Amino acid sequence: MQKLEQIYEGKAKKVFTTDDPELLIVDYKDDATAFNGLKKGTIVGKGIINNQMTNRLMAKMEKAGIPTHFVKELSERETLVKKVSIVPLEVIIRNISAGSFAKRYGVEEGIIFDNPTIEFSYKNDELGDPLLNAYHALALKLATQEEIDLIKKYSFAVNDVLKAFWLECGVTLVDFKLEFGRLSDGTIVLADEISPDTCRLWDSKTHEKLDKDRFRRDLGGVEDAYAEIMKRLVEHDL
Ligand code: TMP
Repeated sequence: MQKLEQIYEGKAKKVFTTDDPELLIVDYKDDATAFNGLKKGTIVGKGIINNQMTNRLMAKMEKAGIPTHFVKELSERETLVKKVSIVPLEVIIRNISAGSFAKRYGVEEGIIFDNPTIEFSYKNDELGDPLLNAYHALALKLATQEEIDLIKKYSFAVNDVLKAFWLECGVTLVDFKLEFGRLSDGTIVLADEISPDTCRLWDSKTHEKLDKDRFRRDLGGVEDAYAEIMKRLVEHDL
């Protein structure tokens, strides 16, 4: 399958058409941004890791009965995916307090919740992805009630599968962000990526951060953390 025309360039990926109108090619970049693009940098090799990690994790989701846009890995950085129109909601699941949750509610990082939380942001860079609830999403016609219910169900199911898998790798899944899309017939599928860019992943023993927070917070060792988390995945995903 060949790339035809670039139709989109985001902060971390480019998207191309193919000769099949229902299929697109995603090409992962090494570019990294944070704080809605205010902080810019490069994480060498990130595109390869995020592509390969996302694909392995998407395959696990399919196995668990969660439909995804994943079709086939084409190369180190390129993957064939089903064409979707993205539901403009960022879905965040949290198992442990961190990041904007800790800041917003004035609590420390590392509080283990009895039950996971879910929140939505309106995917809109100009507005800085504002937080909203399901009523707001309905009022803005971003999704239907049925779609929101399905997105919630799938997101918690993703959490169960991901949390259990990372635990086997000696990694604690703190939180993560998902995006969903609609196929041409309206079917909701998991889209975008599942990677150290979009998840907080802490070493279970040392609590060392093995994700993009190393870049966001200038902690150093960014490339090493991405390589380490990929190594753990490959070792346990045979
Ligand atoms: P937050 O604590 O900054 O709200 O982030 C929650 C999770 O979502 C964390 O795992 C990082 C991920 N995330 C993204 O993937 N994209 C984003 O733009 C933001 C703000 C967070």
